[in-house]
Amino acid sequence: MLSIRNLGKSFLCPESREVLHDVSLEVARGEYIAIMGESGIGKSTLLNLIAGLEMPDHGSIRLDGCELVGLDDNRLTRLRRQKMGFVFQAFHLLPYLTVSQNIALPLALNDVSERDASERVSSLLASIGLAGRGGSPVRELSGGEMQRVAIARALAHRPQLILADEPTGNLDPVSASHVQALLRDQVRQGNAAGILVTHSPAAAATTDRIYVLNPEGLFPRDAA
Ligand SMILES: Nc1ncnc2c1ncn2[C@@H]1O[C@H](COP(=O)(O)OP(=O)(O)OP(=O)(O)O)[C@@H](O)[C@H]1O
Ligand SMILES: [Mg+2]
Repeated sequence: MLSIRNLGKSFLCPESREVLHDVSLEVARGEYIAIMGESGIGKSTLLNLIAGLEMPDHGSIRLDGCELVGLDDNRLTRLRRQKMGFVFQAFHLLPYLTVSQNIALPLALNDVSERDASERVSSLLASIGLAGRGGSPVRELSGGEMQRVAIARALAHRPQLILADEPTGNLDPVSASHVQALLRDQVRQGNAAGILVTHSPAAAATTDRIYVLNPEGLFPRDAA
């Protein structure tokens, strides 16, 4: 499903610095993995590369056999819209739209009918514990509530690849375990590939395999 080979990325500003060195990873359909590693090591950068939001210096990223590196922006945008769900570390919600409008955004972009979209939004609102809050503008929510809306939005269009960057960092333990279960179930039920970036051992333990990113590359935790 997702196949990453020998990925490398350096940033030139403010000073030249290699962030990812020779990262390789395979994630199969229905498989959910965690990536851990110290702050600043490059976990968010790796997710951005997979989502095509940044370009690597070298290496290959294949999704369903299709090479993403080198695709033009239009194709990457289409692919992202149809196949990927991204929970960003900073939520990137639209504060002046309501909770429901935010969650329905990927459905509207994929031409899902209003009736189907509204059913999907209701069921997601219930799974994130925000039933009845669909009409609230997002700017009126707490940080933890915004985080749950960001997760629902990432899952709305049943993406084949789910990328979640520290999705439970702002949540209390009960909401966090709810959201962890929701992510895991969506990967399983949708036969998707899921990548969870987290500092939390409890969150990582909800996945099938744990990897650690270090300056030499990405390694299974038991081997790191
Ligand atoms: N656009 C950019 N330009 C320059 N440097 C960047 C850019 N994006 C990230 N970096 C640098 O790359 C390094 C890795 O950042 P990244 O955000 O991937 O770390 P992370 O592992 O996600 O950390 P955290 O656990 O704190 O979220 C950091 O040193 C960061 O300053
Ligand atoms: Mg990060």
